[in-house]
Formats: sequence, C-alpha cells, structure tokens
Amino acid sequence: MKVTVLRLGHRLSRDARISTHLALVARAFGAQRIVYDAGAADVKESVDRISQAWGGGFEVAFVKGWKRYVQDFPGVKVHLTMYGLPIADVIPGLAGVGELLVVVGGAKVPSEVYGLVDHNVAVGGQPHSEVAALAVFLDRLFMGGELSHDFGGKKRVIPQARGKKLSESP
Ligand SMILES: C[S@@+](CC[C@H](N)C(=O)[O-])C[C@H]1O[C@@H](n2cnc3c(N)ncnc32)[C@H](O)[C@@H]1O
Repeated sequence: MKVTVLRLGHRLSRDARISTHLALVARAFGAQRIVYDAGAADVKESVDRISQAWGGGFEVAFVKGWKRYVQDFPGVKVHLTMYGLPIADVIPGLAGVGELLVVVGGAKVPSEVYGLVDHNVAVGGQPHSEVAALAVFLDRLFMGGELSHDFGGKKRVIPQARGKKLSESP
C-alpha cells in the first residue's frame, strides 16, 4: 500500500519542528510521501538530509490548493480526528487498498475536510497530537511490520542492549 500524508495548517513561522517530526514519523512508519499545504523549505531540507543518510525513497512536497488535492487524490482518503470513528473499526476495511491519503490537521482544521474524505478516524476520543495520531494509525495499518523495514541506507543502527552502535557505508 502506498501512503501519502497531507498535513494541513502548517504555519511557516511556528510549526517547523512539529512538521519535521510529522515527516520523520511518516517516513519511519511506512508512508512514502508527505505533502504540506504551505511551503516549508527548511522542513524539506532537513528531512531530505535524513533520507539521504538513512535510506528509503521518502518524498516531501507542497501543494497550493489542498482541497483540490484531496478531491483529485486517486485512492482512499482518511482524516485523523478525535471526532471520527474508532480506529479499530476502520482499519479492517482498508485491507487491500492501493493508494491511501491520510490527512492530519494542525491548530485549526477546516470543517470541509470531514466531508471530503472516505473515513474520519479517531485514535482514541481524547485530544492529543497529529504526530502521535499518525504513528498509531500507521502502526495499526501495517500491523507493526513497518518497524522492521530495511531502508537500505548508508547509516544503520546495530541494535545493542546498552550503548550506541552505528554502521556507516560511504
Ligand atoms: C492538536 S490537534 C488540533 C485539533 C483541532 N482543535 C481541530 O480543529 O480538530 C492537531 C491534529 O492532531 C490530530 N489528532 C489529535 N487528537 C486526535 C485523536 N484523538 N484522534 C485522531 N487524530 C487526532 C488531528 O489530525 C488534529 O487535526
């Protein structure tokens, strides 16, 4: 399954750190691409640098008209929101989907989003964070398999009970 994350409400001056974390979580937990509704060159630069060293073909992109992007997306669309249906009820219906769009919000989510997607999905009924919601959603979607994916990067962690070990190829 090919997963694209659409992050709405990126505020250029305030959100660089959380938007970067969202991209890193998307990449590490099995998505192929993250799209922001506002230019975030600094975010793209730091995520691209990590992908170069740690592998995978993760892509960071920007879109001007997010509404058109969602409408034209050629696949199934979900929106993560605490007001949606429980994640456990939605995930089984996503088996076999080829292309999936996962929309996450920021400070304020435009109300039209709820009607543009196929599923509004709650990761619990409490307010928390788009980073946490995305991580739990992707982990449930891929049933944990994404955590052992081989990214084929120049840098790799050699797991240790204690201490830190990295292998680095040129
Ligand atoms: C800090 S919240 C802001 C929510 C905002 N008050 C709104 O209008 O929905 C940012 C994003 O985190 C995600 N999120 C937060 N809690 C969630 C939950 N319980 N289930 C699913 N997604 C959640 C949603 O994507 C939300 O848009």
